[in-house]
Amino acid sequence: MFVVGNWKANGSMQLCDEFVNAIVIPESTDVIVCAPSIYSQYIAAKHIPGLKVGAQDCSKFDNGAYTGNITARMLHELGVQYCLINHSERIKYHNEGVEDAISTIIQCLTHSVVPILCIDFNDVDAIEATLSPYQSFVSEVMIAYEPVSAIGTGVQPSCDEIHNILTSIKNYGFKKVLYGGSVNKVNINELIKIKSLDGVLVGGASLNVNEFNQIIQTCAGAQTNAYSKHH
Ligand code: PGA
Repeated sequence: MFVVGNWKANGSMQLCDEFVNAIVIPESTDVIVCAPSIYSQYIAAKHIPGLKVGAQDCSKFDNGAYTGNITARMLHELGVQYCLINHSERIKYHNEGVEDAISTIIQCLTHSVVPILCIDFNDVDAIEATLSPYQSFVSEVMIAYEPVSAIGTGVQPSCDEIHNILTSIKNYGFKKVLYGGSVNKVNINELIKIKSLDGVLVGGASLNVNEFNQIIQTCAGAQTNAYSKHH
């Protein structure tokens, strides 16, 4: 099970220290922290066993005259293994579109950074139109299904609705599919029951290390149960 924390434009050196000192990572869980890139190097350099570092965005260009950009090549050099792409806040505040997402995916794949592409749709009928531009990347890209209406609002789709959408994304060919939007230490207990779920993308609740740890432990427990069911 993947547990991905997205700090957005939050955090501080103090939070980085708190985080690296308090985070507890069970062997069965892939924990990825997407702090602001300026903090990623610091966190990656702590080499916390099992902790992976991600970025929230990266340049669609390779190195060059692109003032303000951080490239996938640089992320890789600093030990960043994952990158969120096309988060709804990148679309809303930076006008990122599908072409940008594709170029960024290519940069990430070229530099061994795993892309986590964020997508949103309310209706299973929109899946073909939303996913078809990314068809050639189904084996390499992870998907985070994040309904905009659920981000930071506390209002989530039902587990059945999430399951139907995640299943359709998998039927399309994507292998790893996460859910994101108002995940917290309480609703994670229900979310982990969704069979098609490979993990969660956690925004606000990832800024509280204790709460993030609880989410991780719940996901780890779910995996142990799933294992014992089959053996
Ligand atoms: P939230 O954010 O958990 O605060 O809703 C999730 C996200 O935007 O990735």
